Amino acid sequence: MLGLFLALPASAQDGEPILIRFAHVVADDTPKGKGALLFKQLAEQRLPGKVKVEVYPNSTLYGDGDEMQALLDGKVELLAPSLSKFDRYTKKLQLFDLPFLFDDAEAVKRFGRREKSRELLRSMVGHGISGLAYWSNGLKQLSADRPLLLPADARGVSFRIQNSAVLQSQFEALGAQPVRLAFGAMYQALESGQVQGAENPWSNIVSQKVHTVQSHIVESNHGVLHYMLITNTQFWNGLPYAIRVELDGIVEEVTQVVNAEAEALNARDRARIVASGQTKLITLSAEQRAAWREAMLPVWKLYEDEIGADVIRAALAVNRNR
Ligand code: LMR
Repeated sequence: MLGLFLALPASAQDGEPILIRFAHVVADDTPKGKGALLFKQLAEQRLPGKVKVEVYPNSTLYGDGDEMQALLDGKVELLAPSLSKFDRYTKKLQLFDLPFLFDDAEAVKRFGRREKSRELLRSMVGHGISGLAYWSNGLKQLSADRPLLLPADARGVSFRIQNSAVLQSQFEALGAQPVRLAFGAMYQALESGQVQGAENPWSNIVSQKVHTVQSHIVESNHGVLHYMLITNTQFWNGLPYAIRVELDGIVEEVTQVVNAEAEALNARDRARIVASGQTKLITLSAEQRAAWREAMLPVWKLYEDEIGADVIRAALAVNRNR
């Protein structure tokens, strides 16, 4: 009962603006970080005195370990975890972790507009979590303290992974050692040698300074790291109607900006890494990339039942329509 009470928005009628706390784990100057700030700007501009948005980046309010529970407890109103972090609440979103599923980031965006992925936004409502939108970041690159040209080079290497069973299987398929660690702990783990490698999009590599503690980055583009903007279902549904409609429109607008700019931000950060000269960038030949694909592909079969063959088919169809 207490949980229900906490999740309801403070009414704007008592003169106080409704507080929306948006916590996330990355830096401001990343696709998600910028999206959160734009949401704040537009919401406070268009709903002056009615809504106040506080953005907490870099795990400063909540991090990977506690942010979902905080959302359910009404201690924060918006999060945008990567799609890898939901398997406690739905197995279907494991789809996005399947290696080499999408041809490129554009295909992921196209899928985000399809009916099947819209359904997935509602897949956690039973737990009190509503998906509002998909936000793009980009494709992941492997990095390590050594060159990884072929899958065999990853054997025995420990990699920091997000809290995801699919990603665990992906590295086990290589004979590597996946270690689940919160995003906020990654840099330290790499720097101290607790783990030897990682997988990240360019924006997270730069903002976490991964390239300063990894001697090699392989441009593998082997998987995606995108987000779902989520809220507490009861909080969102309990908002005064006119405010909710305005906020829904703002979410839509911010989503378009984030998704239009994510690729350019990642390209900018890739260029920064090259310019820094602090790590060696490895470009794979077509044969080498095919070898990684072949080594990781058996993971699909392991998760097909949990995710649903229909969901996987719907995602693959987006590739074929290019
Ligand atoms: C990670 O944990 O590597 C990412 O999910 C962090 C993020 O939010 O981009």
